[in-house]
Amino acid sequence: MTDAAEIPASISINTSDMPAIVAANLQKKFGDLSVLNGIDCQIHRGEVVSIIGSSGCGKSTLLRCFNRLETISGGQLIVNGIDLSKPNLSRRSLLALRANVGMVFQQFNLFPHLSVLQNLCLAPQKVIGQSSADSQETARFYLNKVGLIEKADSYPDQLSGGQKQRVAIARALCMKPEILLFDEPTSALDPELVGEVLEVMQQLAKEGMTMVVVTHEMQFAREVASRVMFLNKGQVEESGNPREVLSNPQSERLRAFLSRIHMVLPGQSVDG
Ligand SMILES: Nc1ncnc2c1ncn2[C@@H]1O[C@H](COP(=O)(O)OP(=O)(O)O)[C@@H](O)[C@H]1O
Ligand SMILES: [Mg+2]
Repeated sequence: MTDAAEIPASISINTSDMPAIVAANLQKKFGDLSVLNGIDCQIHRGEVVSIIGSSGCGKSTLLRCFNRLETISGGQLIVNGIDLSKPNLSRRSLLALRANVGMVFQQFNLFPHLSVLQNLCLAPQKVIGQSSADSQETARFYLNKVGLIEKADSYPDQLSGGQKQRVAIARALCMKPEILLFDEPTSALDPELVGEVLEVMQQLAKEGMTMVVVTHEMQFAREVASRVMFLNKGQVEESGNPREVLSNPQSERLRAFLSRIHMVLPGQSVDG
């Protein structure tokens, strides 16, 4: 990649007074399969939005539309001030989007042949043209932040799943993104490793990072998210304050979903 030279110094447009993400009647089809059927949502800066919903309802597809891993089929989508509704996005806009919208995947997606430090330095050097020294300094700062500075020279297969995911989060932070997207970041982890990853995410939320988190961790949704969004069949079926939405779901389908994942609703006892 020779992208760095094309990036203007003003890569961050002044977007502070507009919502981080605006979707209106957003549609996504794969061939004949309609996956997103008119998503309407606004995500504001500093919000932590948990997206929940049954397998196959379009959660990953929606996240992937937010950072243009998928192009949308209809409607409007503006992310960090960049209009993703146009079929042909300029290279400059795409790079600005990549620099400002980070993603953390269920399967970590670290490069196995690169050390932890090299994994962290890659995008800052290639995409935003940071010097090797600057990118290493940034990488060490964020590795320290996720509690893994001593693993800088390790390789991914020498790390536990929880450590890999914390490295993946540090890698996303090295780009100093304005928005972070998480797609089931703890689903591939052994239960005892979930907490260390959620703790890092909770810290980021406290610091005001705008986060969109697809998760089955209802405790995270309830305690850390500022809003929960329930997707059903490619639409936002219910959205609101996590405690209200999760304790007193209005929609029958959300009720059914929560009972399937063993959420205890008011009026039910834990024992049965
Ligand atoms: N690249 C693709 N091509 C065709 N179908 C896809 C593709 N990606 C996802 N789908 C389909 O879109 C639907 C929603 O998938 P997904 O967004 O991954 O759901 P979720 O993350 O909520 O489990 C599923 O039916 C899935 O098979
Ligand atoms: Mg998914």
